[in-house]
Amino acid sequence: MAKPPLSMKPTGWFQVAWSDEIGVGDVHTMKYFDQEMVAWRTESGRISVMNAYCEHLGAHLGYGGKVVGEVLQCPFHGWQWNEGGRNVCIPYQDRPNRGRRIRTYPVVERNESVYIWHDLQGREPFFEPPDVFAAFGDDGGAAGYYPQQRLFRQGLELHPQYVLENGVDFAHFKFVHDTPIVPVFTRHDFAGAVSYVDFTITFSGDDGQRIEDVNSGVQAINGGLGIAVTKSWGMVDNRTISAVTPVDERTSDVRFMVYIGRMPGKDPARAERKGCEFGQEVIRQFTQDIEIWQHQRYSDPPALAAAEYEGFTAIRNWAKQFYPDGLGGSAAEVYAATRKG
Ligand code: FES
Ligand SMILES: [Fe+2]
Repeated sequence: MAKPPLSMKPTGWFQVAWSDEIGVGDVHTMKYFDQEMVAWRTESGRISVMNAYCEHLGAHLGYGGKVVGEVLQCPFHGWQWNEGGRNVCIPYQDRPNRGRRIRTYPVVERNESVYIWHDLQGREPFFEPPDVFAAFGDDGGAAGYYPQQRLFRQGLELHPQYVLENGVDFAHFKFVHDTPIVPVFTRHDFAGAVSYVDFTITFSGDDGQRIEDVNSGVQAINGGLGIAVTKSWGMVDNRTISAVTPVDERTSDVRFMVYIGRMPGKDPARAERKGCEFGQEVIRQFTQDIEIWQHQRYSDPPALAAAEYEGFTAIRNWAKQFYPDGLGGSAAEVYAATRKG
């Protein structure tokens, strides 16, 4: 893949871990947005995500750092930092260094995921990460679904925007996902930081059917560039979360989660096995997309068919609000990309 002419440091909510990877007292090491980070959970169960280096002499808190009650203790000289990144104790001095602070990230745990708010300018969150159950305005909580099934692919050469562009890309379904006919979009709402896309789609029947007669579809909600949730209707009840988080200037981690609705039946174990198979099938379809995305080169301006113009223009304009310079890349890169003809 060519390095995308889009910033790999966009603003928004991004998944950095799953909640169950970080138990009480754990210090979890990771790298996102070109920053070494740690996520750690206090004794009372609260999670904190911060840059990994101690502000004293720069030890990496992910290698030997220890959770002590509600604070994180550096392995080098024992300085203690609270969940806000403030120094609260220097063990060999009677008062802490109140001025020094490790950069922390706003963090939300939702749908078994750990999301952080990333913004180069340090602004507060200006939208909420979508909840795969609550966001659709129905009462289907997690209890109505089998356990979450997951896919985790690390270090792929792709940009989060590629994944979102699926949401307007009606033509790929037939070729990538083998749908019998081309789906039709019934809603494109790109007015706010959270956008909404609905489409009618079927995975069954033959290519002789008319899309007007199809009684199934998908609703998608994009919470910025990092997190998208979907809900299906008229087919096996499923909800998905896709989360793409930039690691460095070239690569991203991709997480995909599926919940399949519980199915009634005399044999619950058998029904759950079936549910698990459906989940694996949904994951398989997502990996078909990944295969394209991880080798793709961002085309800008793209050669579009007439029917594609409106959707792609809308989503690309919408995406600009999340980039540091409002253009997607540095102005020079974007200019060069538009000229390469
Ligand atoms: S480097 Fe962390 S306490 Fe010294
Ligand atoms: Fe797709």
